[in-house]
Amino acid sequence: MTARSIAVLLSGSGSNLQAVLDAQASGELAGRVALVISDRADAYGLQRALGYGIPCAFVPLPAAPPAERAAARAAWERRLLSVLNAFSYDLVLLSGFMRVLSAEFLASCRAPVINQHPALLPDPADAAAGRDYVPTSAGARVPALRGAHVVAEALRRGLGATGCTVHYVTPEVDNGPVLARAEVPIVPGDTEASLHERIKIAERRMIVEVLARLA
Ligand code: GAR
Repeated sequence: MTARSIAVLLSGSGSNLQAVLDAQASGELAGRVALVISDRADAYGLQRALGYGIPCAFVPLPAAPPAERAAARAAWERRLLSVLNAFSYDLVLLSGFMRVLSAEFLASCRAPVINQHPALLPDPADAAAGRDYVPTSAGARVPALRGAHVVAEALRRGLGATGCTVHYVTPEVDNGPVLARAEVPIVPGDTEASLHERIKIAERRMIVEVLARLA
């Protein structure tokens, strides 16, 4: 697989996208960001991409009453795919994209999808064998944390370390084959914001390394 032409999906600040764009500009990265899509109009990541002249699209998931939610979500995923497919891409990077993509979307997507996750995740084979944790450098076991609030969860559980993972996206949420992971210690006095910022420092380095490897 090559990752020469990357479609980025994001919902927020896009500091990881910035690291990728900086690596692209400095020649560290052979691939290039071909387009950026957000489900949020106010995602600062869109402004970062526009500053580089990269095509951007805002594809919101409309609110719907419970009975119509599944159909609205399926229609939204079809719109996402049609925007993606108006471009040429060989990798989709979820970089702070706070939506779950369905098995149908993943099967229809023309390229592999990878995700940045702000916690340590084991390989799916380990998780399936009951080893749903990642050993740390200190010999501890950090349980796999999945979902949207894993930084707060790491603090709530009083873990000594957490980290970040880049993995392929599969229909099982936050449980795809791992491309890279990095450990981040939790220090006394950490808040969700301070810990997430340190995790993101590791993530920015890691995503550039992963994309350079895939390209
Ligand atoms: C990153 O920490 C990424 O791992 C996380 O959102 C942040 C995006 O930061 N992704 C998720 O939580 C996905 N469930 P950024 O907008 O500053 O690049």
